[in-house]
Amino acid sequence: MKFIKTAALGIALVAGPAFADGHATGDAEAGENLFGKCKACHAIKDAEGEVIVKGGRNGPNLWGVYMRQAGSEEDFAKKYGDSLIEVGESGIMWNEEEFIKYVADPRDYLRETLDDRRARSKMSYKLPKEEDARNVWAYLVSVGPEPEEKSE
Ligand code: HEC
Repeated sequence: MKFIKTAALGIALVAGPAFADGHATGDAEAGENLFGKCKACHAIKDAEGEVIVKGGRNGPNLWGVYMRQAGSEEDFAKKYGDSLIEVGESGIMWNEEEFIKYVADPRDYLRETLDDRRARSKMSYKLPKEEDARNVWAYLVSVGPEPEEKSE
């Protein structure tokens, strides 16, 4: 785990315009309620397999999402769409800023980030209100592992 985090940071330093970063400015409590909308497709399950939020399997586990590159959750590897994997391979790690842009409109985010009008998203759900996204992000950070690479 330690190794993975360090490796991920290394990748971000070399290739990434954005860092994995647990920096959060929203209200985690409000975010917990909002996460009810995400549960249909996303669970939160820690590294030991302990379930923090029971959820659907349509989408990847969001535990520690701020520690990873886009499209890189192992258990979901075969189910990601090509576009999200490509975004991750371009060096993008989830942080508050990328997350807010992504959940506002996943398809538009992929199209803009890849500069490809044909990019497709497997997530069709949208959370357009920035404040909501900020709060959900804060919630995910609050239930996840201690972020090591905080950039202030
Ligand atoms: C109808 C199902 C569905 C709902 C509801 C949904 N998602 Fe998703 N989500 C997905 C799928 C499927 C993917 C994978 C997208 C792809 O591969 O293109 C995904 C991917 C993601 C990712 C990228 C994760 C990664 O590993 O790179 C984030 C972040 C995310 N969702 C957050 C949310 C949040 C926050 C909510 C609630 C506001 C939400 N999603 C609601 C289905 C859903």
